[in-house]
Amino acid sequence: MNRKGIILAGGSGTRLHPLTRVASKQLLPIYDKPMIYYPLSTLMLAGIREILIITTPHDLPAFRALLGDGSDWGLSISFLPQPTPDGLAQAFHIGADFIGEDPCLLALGDNLTYGHGLPETLARVGERASGATVFAHRVDNPQRYGVIAFDDGDRVISIEEKPRAPKSHWAVIGLYFYDGTAVDRARELRKSRRGEFEITDLNQSYLRDGALAVERLGRGYAWFDAGTHRSLLEAGEFVHVLQRRQGQLILSPEEIAYSHGWIDAAKLAEHAERLGQSDYGRALAALLP
Ligand code: G1P
Repeated sequence: MNRKGIILAGGSGTRLHPLTRVASKQLLPIYDKPMIYYPLSTLMLAGIREILIITTPHDLPAFRALLGDGSDWGLSISFLPQPTPDGLAQAFHIGADFIGEDPCLLALGDNLTYGHGLPETLARVGERASGATVFAHRVDNPQRYGVIAFDDGDRVISIEEKPRAPKSHWAVIGLYFYDGTAVDRARELRKSRRGEFEITDLNQSYLRDGALAVERLGRGYAWFDAGTHRSLLEAGEFVHVLQRRQGQLILSPEEIAYSHGWIDAAKLAEHAERLGQSDYGRALAALLP
């Protein structure tokens, strides 16, 4: 199955200082890597090599300068602008030609998901040819997110965008598997009251058809949406503490490309050299044979 990847690194939802108008928040670092490396790595862990980055016209050149055509990681990366921040589901209007009839995996540019067994879960879910699969993670402040409610039999009853009175603590994370019907479904959507094509409305379309699966990521997972000052700092601390303690990189596209055999040792050595005497560079060099 040729599943395509999309990363939406748009301008909406930013709750950071206006300094981020100089450069998109997804170019800011979470500890030692640009924020966008994290969702990029997640798509790579899912085995996806053909990736579209959707961002603002202003930030597009900076993303292109950072990522190039993706060949440094054995990927094929292309870029398209989102002229106005009209919602996450707009990714399917903008990316319609890129997606074609193929299934895809949409990742939000400011999300970091980490946990033991994630690659296996992504591989298992990626095998599903029809329907949509979203992931839910327990949070303390569900009002800020899409929220899923389950019945006693663990079946999904509802999915609501930023409800004032959330029916559960299960937030929908920014990682969405869709079958080939997503583009057509997205064309049917109308803008919400806040003026956006909501990803939650797309997910509701699948739910209505009995085609929405939900995977709960339990306590062993960490999920951050690094769109506020606090969450940006917390995500950075998380990466810092784990990497330092374990001496291994968290969600490094270079390491994943190498372990998948998408780049060879010479290319990895080039990356390590470019990153110099930083801990990141040393951790990559340590992977070399
Ligand atoms: C978006 C989605 C929301 C989801 C969240 C995950 O919200 O609309 O359903 O739970 O991403 O990060 P945003 O953070 O863009 O406001």
